[in-house]
Amino acid sequence: MSHLFDVYPLYDIEPVKARGSYLWDQHGTKYTDLYGGHAVISVGHCHPAYVDALTKQLHAISFYSNSVQISKQEELAEKLGALSGYPDYRLFLCNSGAEANENALKLASFHTGRKKVVAFTRAFHGRTAGAVAVTDNPSIVAPVNDTSHVTFLPFNDVEAALAGITDEHCAVIVEGIQGVGGIQVSSDAFLQALRTRCDETGAVLILDSVQCGYGRTGKFFSHQFSGIHPDLMTMAKGMGNGFPIGGVLISPQFKASYGLLGTTFGGNHLACAAGVAVLDIMKEENLLENATRMGDYLMEGIRQIGGYKELRGRGLMIGIEYDFPVKELRNKLLFEHKLFTGVAGAHTIRLLPSLAVGTEEADAFLQALETEIHVLTK
Ligand SMILES: Cc1ncc(COP(=O)(O)O)c(C=O)c1O
Repeated sequence: MSHLFDVYPLYDIEPVKARGSYLWDQHGTKYTDLYGGHAVISVGHCHPAYVDALTKQLHAISFYSNSVQISKQEELAEKLGALSGYPDYRLFLCNSGAEANENALKLASFHTGRKKVVAFTRAFHGRTAGAVAVTDNPSIVAPVNDTSHVTFLPFNDVEAALAGITDEHCAVIVEGIQGVGGIQVSSDAFLQALRTRCDETGAVLILDSVQCGYGRTGKFFSHQFSGIHPDLMTMAKGMGNGFPIGGVLISPQFKASYGLLGTTFGGNHLACAAGVAVLDIMKEENLLENATRMGDYLMEGIRQIGGYKELRGRGLMIGIEYDFPVKELRNKLLFEHKLFTGVAGAHTIRLLPSLAVGTEEADAFLQALETEIHVLTK
Protein backbone atom coordinates (compact mmCIF):
# COMPACT_ATOMS: atom_id res chain seq x y z
CA MET A 1 0.00 0.00 0.00
CA SER A 2 1.26 3.45 -0.92
CA HIS A 3 2.24 5.77 1.91
CA LEU A 4 1.62 8.80 -0.25
CA PHE A 5 -1.47 10.95 0.12
CA ASP A 6 -3.39 9.64 -2.84
CA VAL A 7 -4.49 12.71 -4.82
CA TYR A 8 -3.19 11.87 -8.31
CA PRO A 9 -4.52 9.23 -10.72
CA LEU A 10 -1.26 7.75 -12.03
CA TYR A 11 -0.31 5.99 -15.24
CA ASP A 12 1.61 2.80 -14.59
CA ILE A 13 4.71 4.17 -16.34
CA GLU A 14 7.88 5.37 -14.72
CA PRO A 15 10.18 7.47 -16.88
CA VAL A 16 13.75 6.96 -15.73
CA LYS A 17 15.61 8.81 -18.48
CA ALA A 18 14.79 11.81 -20.66
CA ARG A 19 16.48 13.72 -23.51
CA GLY A 20 15.00 16.49 -25.64
CA SER A 21 11.41 15.49 -26.36
CA TYR A 22 11.88 11.81 -25.51
CA LEU A 23 11.45 9.75 -22.34
CA TRP A 24 12.39 6.15 -21.53
CA ASP A 25 10.84 3.92 -18.89
CA GLN A 26 12.66 1.31 -16.79
CA HIS A 27 12.11 -1.35 -19.49
CA GLY A 28 13.81 0.81 -22.12
CA THR A 29 10.55 1.70 -23.88
CA LYS A 30 10.86 5.08 -25.61
CA TYR A 31 8.08 7.69 -25.46
CA THR A 32 7.68 10.94 -27.40
CA ASP A 33 6.75 13.84 -25.16
CA LEU A 34 4.18 16.26 -26.57
CA TYR A 35 3.20 17.52 -23.14
CA GLY A 36 6.42 18.48 -21.30
CA GLY A 37 4.96 17.45 -17.94
CA HIS A 38 2.27 20.23 -18.04
CA ALA A 39 4.21 22.83 -20.09
CA VAL A 40 7.22 22.69 -17.80
CA ILE A 41 9.89 21.33 -20.15
CA SER A 42 10.69 24.41 -22.19
CA VAL A 43 14.17 23.86 -23.63
CA GLY A 44 14.02 20.06 -23.73
CA HIS A 45 14.68 17.36 -21.15
CA CYS A 46 18.24 17.29 -19.78
CA HIS A 47 19.57 19.87 -22.23
CA PRO A 48 23.39 19.60 -21.91
CA ALA A 49 23.88 23.35 -21.24
CA TYR A 50 21.15 23.27 -18.59
CA VAL A 51 22.61 20.19 -16.89
CA ASP A 52 26.06 21.79 -16.99
CA ALA A 53 24.83 25.10 -15.49
CA LEU A 54 23.01 23.36 -12.62
CA THR A 55 25.90 20.98 -11.96
CA LYS A 56 28.39 23.86 -11.78
CA GLN A 57 26.08 25.82 -9.47
CA LEU A 58 25.59 22.81 -7.23
CA HIS A 59 29.34 22.46 -6.85
CA ALA A 60 29.80 26.19 -6.14
CA ILE A 61 26.94 27.11 -3.77
CA SER A 62 23.36 25.85 -3.82
CA PHE A 63 21.63 28.09 -1.28
CA TYR A 64 21.83 31.08 0.91
CA SER A 65 18.94 33.23 2.10
CA ASN A 66 17.71 36.53 0.67
CA SER A 67 19.90 38.48 3.06
CA VAL A 68 23.05 38.46 0.91
CA GLN A 69 24.03 39.38 -2.64
CA ILE A 70 22.93 36.73 -5.15
CA SER A 71 24.12 38.03 -8.50
CA LYS A 72 22.40 35.21 -10.43
CA GLN A 73 19.09 36.88 -9.47
CA GLU A 74 20.21 40.13 -11.14
CA GLU A 75 21.42 38.21 -14.18
CA LEU A 76 18.09 36.42 -14.43
CA ALA A 77 16.09 39.65 -14.08
CA GLU A 78 18.18 41.41 -16.70
CA LYS A 79 18.02 38.57 -19.23
CA LEU A 80 14.30 38.04 -18.63
CA GLY A 81 13.58 41.75 -19.08
CA ALA A 82 15.56 41.81 -22.33
CA LEU A 83 14.12 38.65 -23.90
CA SER A 84 10.54 39.34 -22.84
CA GLY A 85 10.49 42.96 -24.01
CA TYR A 86 9.93 44.33 -20.51
CA PRO A 87 13.38 45.72 -19.61
CA ASP A 88 12.00 48.36 -17.21
CA TYR A 89 9.86 45.93 -15.17
CA ARG A 90 11.31 44.49 -11.97
CA LEU A 91 11.27 40.85 -10.91
CA PHE A 92 10.14 39.20 -7.69
CA LEU A 93 11.20 35.56 -7.50
CA CYS A 94 9.24 32.76 -5.86
CA ASN A 95 8.77 29.02 -6.34
CA SER A 96 5.59 28.23 -8.25
CA GLY A 97 2.76 29.59 -10.36
CA ALA A 98 0.27 29.75 -7.50
CA GLU A 99 2.79 31.63 -5.39
CA ALA A 100 3.44 34.08 -8.21
CA ASN A 101 -0.29 34.81 -8.47
CA GLU A 102 -0.57 35.06 -4.69
CA ASN A 103 2.15 37.72 -4.64
CA ALA A 104 0.67 39.57 -7.62
CA LEU A 105 -2.72 39.78 -5.88
CA LYS A 106 -1.06 41.02 -2.69
CA LEU A 107 0.88 43.66 -4.60
CA ALA A 108 -2.30 44.86 -6.32
CA SER A 109 -4.09 45.07 -2.99
CA PHE A 110 -1.21 46.84 -1.21
CA HIS A 111 -0.91 49.24 -4.14
CA THR A 112 -4.59 50.22 -4.34
CA GLY A 113 -5.67 49.68 -0.73
CA ARG A 114 -8.65 47.71 -2.12
CA LYS A 115 -9.63 44.05 -1.73
CA LYS A 116 -12.08 43.05 -4.46
CA VAL A 117 -10.87 41.08 -7.47
CA VAL A 118 -12.32 40.28 -10.88
CA ALA A 119 -11.54 36.88 -12.38
CA PHE A 120 -13.16 34.98 -15.26
CA THR A 121 -15.18 31.87 -15.90
CA ARG A 122 -13.08 28.72 -16.45
CA ALA A 123 -9.98 30.45 -15.02
CA PHE A 124 -7.28 28.43 -13.28
CA HIS A 125 -4.72 30.31 -11.20
CA GLY A 126 -3.44 27.72 -8.70
CA ARG A 127 -4.29 26.12 -5.39
CA THR A 128 -3.01 28.40 -2.63
CA ALA A 129 -5.53 30.56 -0.76
CA GLY A 130 -5.65 33.66 -2.95
CA ALA A 131 -4.96 31.85 -6.21
CA VAL A 132 -7.66 29.23 -5.68
CA ALA A 133 -10.15 31.93 -4.68
CA VAL A 134 -9.81 33.41 -8.19
CA THR A 135 -9.99 29.94 -9.80
CA ASP A 136 -13.38 29.01 -11.25
CA ASN A 137 -13.61 25.48 -9.89
CA PRO A 138 -15.66 25.16 -6.68
CA SER A 139 -14.50 21.56 -6.17
CA ILE A 140 -10.94 22.71 -5.29
CA VAL A 141 -11.98 25.72 -3.18
CA ALA A 142 -12.02 24.70 0.51
CA PRO A 143 -14.36 26.59 2.83
CA VAL A 144 -11.35 28.41 4.30
CA ASN A 145 -10.49 29.77 0.81
CA ASP A 146 -14.02 30.86 0.02
CA THR A 147 -14.32 34.64 -0.08
CA SER A 148 -16.85 37.24 -1.14
CA HIS A 149 -14.08 39.45 -2.58
CA VAL A 150 -14.01 37.72 -5.96
CA THR A 151 -16.42 38.26 -8.87
CA PHE A 152 -16.28 35.91 -11.86
CA LEU A 153 -17.21 37.62 -15.12
CA PRO A 154 -17.78 35.72 -18.39
CA PHE A 155 -14.49 35.09 -20.21
CA ASN A 156 -13.95 36.97 -23.48
CA ASP A 157 -17.10 39.10 -22.93
CA VAL A 158 -16.10 42.72 -23.55
CA GLU A 159 -19.43 44.26 -22.47
CA ALA A 160 -19.52 42.33 -19.21
CA ALA A 161 -15.93 43.36 -18.44
CA LEU A 162 -16.58 47.02 -19.13
CA ALA A 163 -19.65 46.97 -16.90
CA GLY A 164 -18.31 44.68 -14.17
CA ILE A 165 -14.90 46.22 -13.35
CA THR A 166 -15.28 49.17 -10.96
CA ASP A 167 -13.13 51.39 -8.77
CA GLU A 168 -13.77 48.98 -5.88
CA HIS A 169 -11.50 46.39 -7.52
CA CYS A 170 -7.82 46.11 -6.72
CA ALA A 171 -7.11 43.64 -9.51
CA VAL A 172 -8.32 41.95 -12.66
CA ILE A 173 -6.58 38.61 -13.20
CA VAL A 174 -6.73 36.79 -16.52
CA GLU A 175 -4.81 34.13 -18.44
CA GLY A 176 -3.58 35.23 -21.87
CA ILE A 177 -4.69 31.78 -23.01
CA GLN A 178 -6.67 29.68 -20.56
CA GLY A 179 -4.86 26.36 -20.18
CA VAL A 180 -6.78 24.18 -17.74
CA GLY A 181 -9.96 25.86 -19.06
CA GLY A 182 -9.42 24.20 -22.44
CA ILE A 183 -6.90 26.32 -24.44
CA GLN A 184 -9.23 29.29 -24.78
CA VAL A 185 -7.45 32.27 -26.33
CA SER A 186 -8.24 35.71 -24.81
CA SER A 187 -9.36 37.82 -27.77
CA ASP A 188 -7.45 41.02 -28.62
CA ALA A 189 -10.61 43.07 -28.04
CA PHE A 190 -11.13 41.47 -24.62
CA LEU A 191 -7.58 42.14 -23.39
CA GLN A 192 -7.67 45.67 -24.78
CA ALA A 193 -10.99 46.31 -23.00
CA LEU A 194 -9.51 45.01 -19.73
CA ARG A 195 -6.54 47.35 -20.14
CA THR A 196 -8.83 50.34 -20.83
CA ARG A 197 -11.18 49.57 -17.96
CA CYS A 198 -8.30 49.02 -15.50
CA ASP A 199 -6.87 52.40 -16.52
CA GLU A 200 -10.26 54.03 -15.94
CA THR A 201 -10.85 52.46 -12.53
CA GLY A 202 -7.31 52.20 -11.15
CA ALA A 203 -7.54 48.40 -10.92
CA VAL A 204 -4.28 46.50 -11.51
CA LEU A 205 -4.21 44.25 -14.60
CA ILE A 206 -2.54 40.89 -13.87
CA LEU A 207 -1.75 38.60 -16.80
CA ASP A 208 -1.30 35.07 -15.51
CA SER A 209 1.31 33.81 -17.95
CA VAL A 210 2.20 30.69 -15.97
CA GLN A 211 1.15 28.36 -18.78
CA CYS A 212 0.90 30.60 -21.88
CA GLY A 213 4.09 32.58 -21.17
CA TYR A 214 7.78 31.95 -21.51
CA GLY A 215 7.83 31.71 -25.29
CA ARG A 216 5.25 28.97 -25.64
CA THR A 217 3.11 30.87 -28.17
CA GLY A 218 6.02 32.17 -30.24
CA LYS A 219 5.96 35.52 -28.46
CA PHE A 220 7.43 35.68 -24.98
CA PHE A 221 3.98 36.41 -23.50
CA SER A 222 0.79 35.57 -25.38
CA HIS A 223 -0.76 38.97 -24.56
CA GLN A 224 1.92 40.53 -26.78
CA PHE A 225 -0.23 39.51 -29.76
CA SER A 226 -2.86 41.97 -28.47
CA GLY A 227 -0.59 45.00 -28.06
CA ILE A 228 -1.32 45.60 -24.38
CA HIS A 229 1.00 46.03 -21.40
CA PRO A 230 -0.16 44.50 -18.11
CA ASP A 231 0.81 45.95 -14.74
CA LEU A 232 1.90 42.56 -13.42
CA MET A 233 2.78 39.31 -15.17
CA THR A 234 3.13 36.01 -13.36
CA MET A 235 5.18 33.08 -14.60
CA ALA A 236 6.52 29.66 -13.56
CA LYS A 237 6.35 26.32 -15.46
CA GLY A 238 8.83 26.72 -18.37
CA MET A 239 10.92 29.21 -16.42
CA GLY A 240 13.13 26.52 -14.86
CA ASN A 241 12.67 23.60 -17.31
CA GLY A 242 11.71 21.44 -14.31
CA PHE A 243 13.52 23.19 -11.50
CA PRO A 244 10.82 24.89 -9.34
CA ILE A 245 10.88 28.64 -9.87
CA GLY A 246 8.23 31.30 -10.32
CA GLY A 247 8.25 35.04 -10.72
CA VAL A 248 6.25 38.25 -10.98
CA LEU A 249 7.26 40.95 -13.45
CA ILE A 250 6.26 44.27 -11.92
CA SER A 251 5.71 47.56 -13.74
CA PRO A 252 7.75 50.58 -12.58
CA GLN A 253 4.69 52.24 -11.00
CA PHE A 254 4.87 49.83 -8.02
CA LYS A 255 6.97 50.97 -5.11
CA ALA A 256 9.06 48.36 -3.31
CA SER A 257 9.71 48.53 0.43
CA TYR A 258 11.61 46.19 2.71
CA GLY A 259 9.44 43.34 3.94
CA LEU A 260 6.54 44.01 1.55
CA LEU A 261 7.04 40.55 -0.03
CA GLY A 262 9.34 37.74 1.00
CA THR A 263 10.23 34.07 0.67
CA THR A 264 12.80 31.60 1.99
CA PHE A 265 13.47 29.61 -1.16
CA GLY A 266 12.50 32.10 -3.88
CA GLY A 267 15.49 33.20 -5.94
CA ASN A 268 17.84 30.54 -4.59
CA HIS A 269 21.09 29.89 -6.43
CA LEU A 270 20.04 26.65 -8.10
CA ALA A 271 16.68 28.03 -9.26
CA CYS A 272 18.38 31.10 -10.72
CA ALA A 273 21.05 28.99 -12.43
CA ALA A 274 18.23 26.97 -14.01
CA GLY A 275 16.37 30.16 -14.99
CA VAL A 276 19.42 31.78 -16.57
CA ALA A 277 20.30 28.59 -18.46
CA VAL A 278 16.74 28.40 -19.85
CA LEU A 279 16.85 32.00 -21.12
CA ASP A 280 20.34 31.53 -22.62
CA ILE A 281 19.23 28.39 -24.46
CA MET A 282 16.00 30.02 -25.64
CA LYS A 283 17.98 32.89 -27.11
CA GLU A 284 20.83 30.83 -28.52
CA GLU A 285 18.57 28.27 -30.20
CA ASN A 286 15.88 30.76 -31.34
CA LEU A 287 13.22 28.76 -29.53
CA LEU A 288 10.51 31.42 -29.91
CA GLU A 289 10.84 31.12 -33.68
CA ASN A 290 10.80 27.33 -33.36
CA ALA A 291 7.61 27.56 -31.28
CA THR A 292 5.94 29.58 -34.05
CA ARG A 293 7.20 27.29 -36.82
CA MET A 294 6.41 24.02 -35.07
CA GLY A 295 3.09 25.35 -33.80
CA ASP A 296 2.07 26.12 -37.39
CA TYR A 297 3.35 22.73 -38.51
CA LEU A 298 1.34 20.84 -35.89
CA MET A 299 -1.81 22.93 -36.43
CA GLU A 300 -1.65 22.38 -40.20
CA GLY A 301 -1.16 18.64 -39.75
CA ILE A 302 -4.08 18.44 -37.31
CA ARG A 303 -6.26 20.44 -39.72
CA GLN A 304 -5.49 18.00 -42.52
CA ILE A 305 -6.44 15.03 -40.36
CA GLY A 306 -9.71 16.72 -39.33
CA GLY A 307 -12.43 14.96 -37.35
CA TYR A 308 -12.36 17.54 -34.56
CA LYS A 309 -14.96 20.04 -33.40
CA GLU A 310 -12.59 22.95 -32.79
CA LEU A 311 -8.84 23.56 -32.99
CA ARG A 312 -7.58 26.30 -30.67
CA GLY A 313 -4.34 27.84 -29.48
CA ARG A 314 -1.22 29.64 -30.53
CA GLY A 315 2.28 28.34 -31.19
CA LEU A 316 2.96 25.29 -29.04
CA MET A 317 -0.12 25.67 -26.84
CA ILE A 318 -2.70 23.65 -28.73
CA GLY A 319 -6.15 22.33 -27.85
CA ILE A 320 -8.05 19.91 -30.10
CA GLU A 321 -11.67 19.59 -29.04
CA TYR A 322 -13.65 16.57 -30.23
CA ASP A 323 -17.35 15.87 -29.91
CA PHE A 324 -16.50 12.63 -28.04
CA PRO A 325 -14.66 12.12 -24.71
CA VAL A 326 -10.91 11.92 -25.41
CA LYS A 327 -9.84 9.59 -22.59
CA GLU A 328 -9.66 6.56 -24.89
CA LEU A 329 -7.83 8.52 -27.59
CA ARG A 330 -5.26 9.78 -25.09
CA ASN A 331 -4.76 6.27 -23.70
CA LYS A 332 -4.26 4.86 -27.21
CA LEU A 333 -1.73 7.58 -28.01
CA LEU A 334 0.14 6.74 -24.82
CA PHE A 335 -0.02 2.97 -24.63
CA GLU A 336 -0.12 1.98 -28.31
CA HIS A 337 1.84 4.82 -29.92
CA LYS A 338 4.04 5.72 -26.92
CA LEU A 339 3.15 9.41 -27.05
CA PHE A 340 2.54 11.65 -24.05
CA THR A 341 -0.25 14.21 -24.54
CA GLY A 342 -2.53 16.00 -22.07
CA VAL A 343 -6.21 16.83 -21.79
CA ALA A 344 -8.26 19.83 -20.71
CA GLY A 345 -11.71 18.75 -19.60
CA ALA A 346 -13.28 15.62 -21.06
CA HIS A 347 -13.26 16.53 -24.77
CA THR A 348 -10.01 18.36 -25.47
CA ILE A 349 -6.54 16.96 -26.18
CA ARG A 350 -3.93 19.44 -24.98
CA LEU A 351 -0.43 19.70 -26.49
CA LEU A 352 2.30 21.58 -24.61
CA PRO A 353 5.57 20.21 -25.99
CA SER A 354 9.04 21.58 -25.39
CA LEU A 355 9.75 24.76 -27.37
CA ALA A 356 12.57 22.78 -29.00
CA VAL A 357 10.29 20.06 -30.38
CA GLY A 358 11.17 19.00 -33.95
CA THR A 359 9.37 17.66 -37.02
CA GLU A 360 10.29 14.06 -36.19
CA GLU A 361 8.36 14.20 -32.91
CA ALA A 362 5.51 16.18 -34.50
CA ASP A 363 5.23 13.65 -37.34
CA ALA A 364 5.11 10.77 -34.88
CA PHE A 365 2.17 12.47 -33.18
CA LEU A 366 0.38 13.36 -36.42
CA GLN A 367 0.69 9.83 -37.79
CA ALA A 368 -0.64 8.32 -34.58
CA LEU A 369 -3.49 10.83 -34.41
CA GLU A 370 -4.48 10.13 -38.01
CA THR A 371 -4.58 6.37 -37.37
CA GLU A 372 -6.69 6.72 -34.23
CA ILE A 373 -9.06 9.37 -35.61
CA HIS A 374 -9.77 7.11 -38.60
CA VAL A 375 -10.69 4.26 -36.25
CA LEU A 376 -12.74 6.44 -33.89
CA THR A 377 -14.71 8.32 -36.53
CA LYS A 378 -15.31 5.61 -39.14
C1 LIG B 1 -2.47 29.52 -15.74
C2 LIG B 1 -1.95 28.87 -14.49
N1 LIG B 1 -1.76 29.61 -13.40
C3 LIG B 1 -1.26 29.08 -12.26
C4 LIG B 1 -0.97 27.74 -12.17
C5 LIG B 1 -0.43 27.16 -10.90
O1 LIG B 1 0.92 26.87 -11.02
P1 LIG B 1 1.64 25.93 -9.93
O2 LIG B 1 1.06 24.56 -10.11
O3 LIG B 1 3.09 26.04 -10.28
O4 LIG B 1 1.33 26.50 -8.59
C6 LIG B 1 -1.15 26.93 -13.30
C7 LIG B 1 -0.86 25.48 -13.24
O5 LIG B 1 -1.30 24.69 -14.02
C8 LIG B 1 -1.66 27.50 -14.48
O6 LIG B 1 -1.87 26.77 -15.59
